Amino acid sequence: MKIHIITIFPESFESYLSSSILWRALEKWLFQCELYKLNDFSDDNFKRVDSKAYGMHGQVISPEPLAKAIDFIFDKVGHKIPVIYMTPSWELLNQKKVEEYYSKLDGEFIIICGHYEWIDQRIIDLYVDYSISIWEYVLTSWELSACVFIDWLVRHIPWVLWNTQSLEEDSFWELLDRKKEYPVYTRPEIFMWQQVPPVLLSGNHKQIENWKKENLR
Ligand SMILES: C[S@@+](CC[C@H](N)C(=O)[O-])C[C@H]1O[C@@H](n2cnc3c(N)ncnc32)[C@H](O)[C@@H]1O
Repeated sequence: MKIHIITIFPESFESYLSSSILWRALEKWLFQCELYKLNDFSDDNFKRVDSKAYGMHGQVISPEPLAKAIDFIFDKVGHKIPVIYMTPSWELLNQKKVEEYYSKLDGEFIIICGHYEWIDQRIIDLYVDYSISIWEYVLTSWELSACVFIDWLVRHIPWVLWNTQSLEEDSFWELLDRKKEYPVYTRPEIFMWQQVPPVLLSGNHKQIENWKKENLR
């Protein structure tokens, strides 16, 4: 999987991509990420990429630099690839949907992060294949919603998680009937008078599996 990200703030991704599991996955080439600064595609002398909105308050990302950036990536890859736009007002993500996106977006794709209120609608009409909302609330940062989506996708790539069983036992997985995971315990066996359920110490795998099913939330 290779993710091309168009953004005004490439630095917002850097700390996130340079730590923990995502960093390890990048180092092992389990996925790749390329950042493009939108302002580099502006013909404006001051590298501006926004303009005043028609008929409403606020600034909007102009279509020209975005179209130039997307076409540049298409040329570089050698063909068109899916274009994703993060927006609060479109299809809501859930675990089932993200699994569907994971199969659709197996190769390379582009994520557009704009700034200000919106991007010009004509970019959405002409280029965008999937508009995705991470939930019904409005964030300030486009980069943050993109990071949430990327984290979700990358988690599903084989070998990104050391223990693939932990993925299959995550909340909302099909194996768990899309319910939330059961409670989990570690040492010590007794903590502040609270005891670990004895069945988990029994070593009886069948009984443990039954206990897990009974305790899904
Ligand atoms: C301040 S918001 C713009 C909100 C827009 N004016 C509206 O009313 O829907 C800036 C950007 O952050 C991203 N964003 C904010 N909340 C999001 C969400 N829940 N899901 C996906 N993207 C989101 C989108 O790219 C959005 O365009």
